[in-house]
Amino acid sequence: MEIKLTEYGQRRKRLMKKIGTGTAIFRSAPTVVMHNDVEHVFRQDSDFFYLTGFNEPEAVAVLAPHHEEHHFVLFVQPKDPEKETWTGYRCGVEKAKEFYGADEAYPINELHKRLPQYIEKADRIYYHLGRDKNFNEMILSHWQRLMAVYSKRGTGPIAIEDPNPILHPMRQVKSLTELEMLRTAIDISVIAHNRAREFVQVGHYEYEIQAEIEHTFRLHGGTGPAYPSIVASGANSCILHYIENRRQIQENELLLIDAGCSYGYYNGDITRTFPVSNKFTGEQKAIYELVLEAQLKAIESVRPGKPYNEFHDMAVCVLVQGLIDLGLLKGDLEEIIKEEKYKPFYMHKTGHWLGLDVHDVGIYKQGEGTWQPLESGHLLTVEPGLYISPNIKPTEGQPEVPERWHGIGIRIEDDVLVTKTGHEVLTAGVPKMIDEISL
Ligand code: GLY
Ligand code: MN
Ligand code: MN
Repeated sequence: MEIKLTEYGQRRKRLMKKIGTGTAIFRSAPTVVMHNDVEHVFRQDSDFFYLTGFNEPEAVAVLAPHHEEHHFVLFVQPKDPEKETWTGYRCGVEKAKEFYGADEAYPINELHKRLPQYIEKADRIYYHLGRDKNFNEMILSHWQRLMAVYSKRGTGPIAIEDPNPILHPMRQVKSLTELEMLRTAIDISVIAHNRAREFVQVGHYEYEIQAEIEHTFRLHGGTGPAYPSIVASGANSCILHYIENRRQIQENELLLIDAGCSYGYYNGDITRTFPVSNKFTGEQKAIYELVLEAQLKAIESVRPGKPYNEFHDMAVCVLVQGLIDLGLLKGDLEEIIKEEKYKPFYMHKTGHWLGLDVHDVGIYKQGEGTWQPLESGHLLTVEPGLYISPNIKPTEGQPEVPERWHGIGIRIEDDVLVTKTGHEVLTAGVPKMIDEISL
């Protein structure tokens, strides 16, 4: 399965319609990462990939809707049989037109010479400054040169504008084919989580579970983990980005697994926490029930038209009330929330956009105090948690946490698609209800 050439063309068309008489420039991820002289797997820049489907380094895409002949131009690495023997196939200049639909293609080393014809009549350059200093300088030098003659010519790009506010809302609403890619990434992630759950035993090392998960990703055609897999037993589950995965799992502990598969650059992102001996202790169960209730209620509030913050606020409200009921926080619910006195237990947000990037592009706020409304085709994670680190320091005036609660870290994370009428939990295939994960 893959995104068709026509869809990339439609995306470029939509963008070009919005930039009108401007020229947009997108750079690929710069190059294959080398560690000493060992080459690491290349990962294309997501914006560049979204617009071109072109999966090589050292490339530039120019979109010039006002140009007489060439609206889509690709600059690419030329064919080089000797280099290709070492680092793999290159599409080359000739085939860039045929395979990727470019109106014109050039070798990348001609960029400096060829770029002016595509920007000198534009009224703006759309370019995201900041990713690559040398490339920024090249764009700025072209721009300055054109501005120096602006008064004589009466045309030229009077501004450099960031394309992200135009491009990223496009990426945020997933097309049907993108959803197929995402469903595949997520389905593989589901299989891997279920495989891990079957495999886990007291005495296993965390890395053994990680190996089962990542083996499953590749086995089903995924490119690998979407982010470093977290397999956290015992108190390690209180470390949000625990990725060492070296500890041996002990009896009666919880195991938190946060792992997702990447498939064709689209990503899954799932967390489950469960008792390794199939039985919760009283404290573990109380916290798990709370996180689960927060997650289920948060998911309920995902539907089109709802402001983005609502599912987070819902989760915080449930978690805080539960912590008060358990005696782990004291005081007035609203005041605890307003003054963020719950933060030693819950220090992250309840979700993020998901797509070509795991923490995908897209705005959360539309201005001071106005949250982005959810829209059909948005994909987000819902991932509340509670973390009672052995080193937890309550905020001033709050009770000390008795030791029997220490070391409990729980997160439950699902990938939730906003539909026309509500939502769909794409990760529902991994059990999370208490009777499904314990005896
Ligand atoms: N695994 C990264 C996240 O949940 O955001
Ligand atoms: Mn996540
Ligand atoms: Mn995650």
